[in-house]
Amino acid sequence: MNSTEILKLLETRRTYRKFDQSRQISKEAVEDMKKAARTASSAMNRQPLRYLYVRSPQKVNEVFETTKWAGALPSELGVPREGEKPTLYVVVLSVKELQSAYTSFDEGLAVSNMTLAAWTHGVGSCIIGSADKDKLRKALEIDESLDIGCVVAFGYPVHESYIEDMKDDTKYYLDEKMNYHVPKRKICDTVKDV
Ligand SMILES: Cc1cc2nc3c(=O)[nH]c(=O)nc-3n(C[C@H](O)[C@H](O)[C@H](O)COP(=O)(O)O)c2cc1C
Repeated sequence: MNSTEILKLLETRRTYRKFDQSRQISKEAVEDMKKAARTASSAMNRQPLRYLYVRSPQKVNEVFETTKWAGALPSELGVPREGEKPTLYVVVLSVKELQSAYTSFDEGLAVSNMTLAAWTHGVGSCIIGSADKDKLRKALEIDESLDIGCVVAFGYPVHESYIEDMKDDTKYYLDEKMNYHVPKRKICDTVKDV
């Protein structure tokens, strides 16, 4: 893959919030997601992370009930409806005994790898930081020796999402076709060459 193709992959690996709920994630995509997370760098190489892949329809439903979607949009637009919901969740956990000051870095790197690998298979994702962790722990019987980081929702998207140059607001918005537009600050506003 050349640099143009890698940048294209990065630009299109956006947050997706509506999916084709009738399509299960392919086995190949799931295997590549697992491999990709394993390759992530880890502070002191402690590798504190564990991953819970939730695919059974009943559990997927229970996880959905713990998640909050698209804070910038009215719920009727931002929350996936029946038929549009994710078909797989990955709950990112960390072993308390192995945690360091950098565990959230580890989580970010692993999630980035995982969501990119998924996207190479056409599988879109939404990282969810605002899940109800108590409810999630109960629903999935997560041991107290593990901390819950984020939840990542996966599915085959039914909308597009485009990066835009930011003007005066970072808020993402929808167009008339229900596609997302995500304002990003310009490079000249975030980078200084010295
Ligand atoms: C750490 C983190 C937590 C997030 N939590 C949520 C969330 O709880 N619910 C949600 O709908 N989106 C969530 N998002 C998605 C962001 O809203 C999204 O990344 C942002 O709007 C930019 O869009 P982009 O990912 O397409 O660049 C989260 C993203 C990150 C990185």
